[in-house]
Amino acid sequence: SLQGYESFMMKEIRESWGAVRDTIVGLMNDMEKLGKAVKAMDKARRILVVAAGTSYHAGLIFASRLMRTGKTVIPVIASEYENVKAGGEDVVLVISQSGETMDSLLAMKSFKNSGSFVVSLTNTLGNSISYYSDIALHTRAGPEIGVAATKTFTSQVGALLLISSLMIGENLDYLKEAESTVSSSFSKSIGYAEKIGVDVSKKQSLYYLGKGLGVPMAMEGALKIKEIAYIHAEAYPAGESKHGPIALVEKDFPVIFVNTGEHVDELRNNLKEMQSRKARVYVVSAGSELRSDQEVTEIMIDINDARLAPLALAPPLQLIAYYAAKERGLNPDRPRNLAKTVTVR
Ligand code: M6R
Repeated sequence: SLQGYESFMMKEIRESWGAVRDTIVGLMNDMEKLGKAVKAMDKARRILVVAAGTSYHAGLIFASRLMRTGKTVIPVIASEYENVKAGGEDVVLVISQSGETMDSLLAMKSFKNSGSFVVSLTNTLGNSISYYSDIALHTRAGPEIGVAATKTFTSQVGALLLISSLMIGENLDYLKEAESTVSSSFSKSIGYAEKIGVDVSKKQSLYYLGKGLGVPMAMEGALKIKEIAYIHAEAYPAGESKHGPIALVEKDFPVIFVNTGEHVDELRNNLKEMQSRKARVYVVSAGSELRSDQEVTEIMIDINDARLAPLALAPPLQLIAYYAAKERGLNPDRPRNLAKTVTVR
């Protein structure tokens, strides 16, 4: 039940820090299973990360972290699996909140048939994807009722930070702050996110721009606002602006920069380019400030470790979409044309 909350989406965003904590603790309690999954992926010629929608964005964060170390990781949008040929030396990591997404299930079955070992990361027990996988890992976000994936996404990100850190051989201590990072991000950002959400609710279209891991986070922010507020949004790496998209930026065109604290100077130049076209610029930052003048609304989340940035950025991006939907009089829990679990191709 709603237990006094105005919507499941808000209730579930508020459950996200506990969900991240339970997910990380839960995975670490079964180190034997987790170790097997890590070993399989370590040895693999390539890791194919297969997922749809929000789960795909979580997968991109995992892929980027490993590709930076030289590992070959191929993110595969589940419905496009036919474009990738896998074999026995490859490991497939399939990520799905529900464990029942037909595109993801068909993709994993096809890769399994061609001999790949399959590791799954799902949020429910006894689902089809975990049933067909060789190793079934779980996030522990609890049931998610809102159609928009919120706490399950943040939990996937937490799980994938842990798994990638194990693969890279990083010390895991930073993950002790995963829970407090998400909860303090929520409290810090809610007021600003409401202001930004209300502002952009009047617009028909906006950009979400990022760099590095800010790109998948920007993609997730854009998906959320399309899904529940019906505002057209496009996300792309900020450096691409000059290669085309900046052409349609005119006075008051809204642009939300998603800043993970990486390559801040470059991102700031991109921001200035947008300002010089008179765009309406907003920033969501984790780790270091981006804006160079007080005119720009910036949500600034402090983090104690740069790797926590994706966790810190999740609440404000979800809240911006939430408040944009609310301002438009929409029910964020029940977006039109969408089902919580997509069991058709
Ligand atoms: O259950 P899954 O994680 O496999 O679902 C994949 C997508 O359908 C899902 O993430 C969808 O994009 C969300 N509703 C977005 O909020």
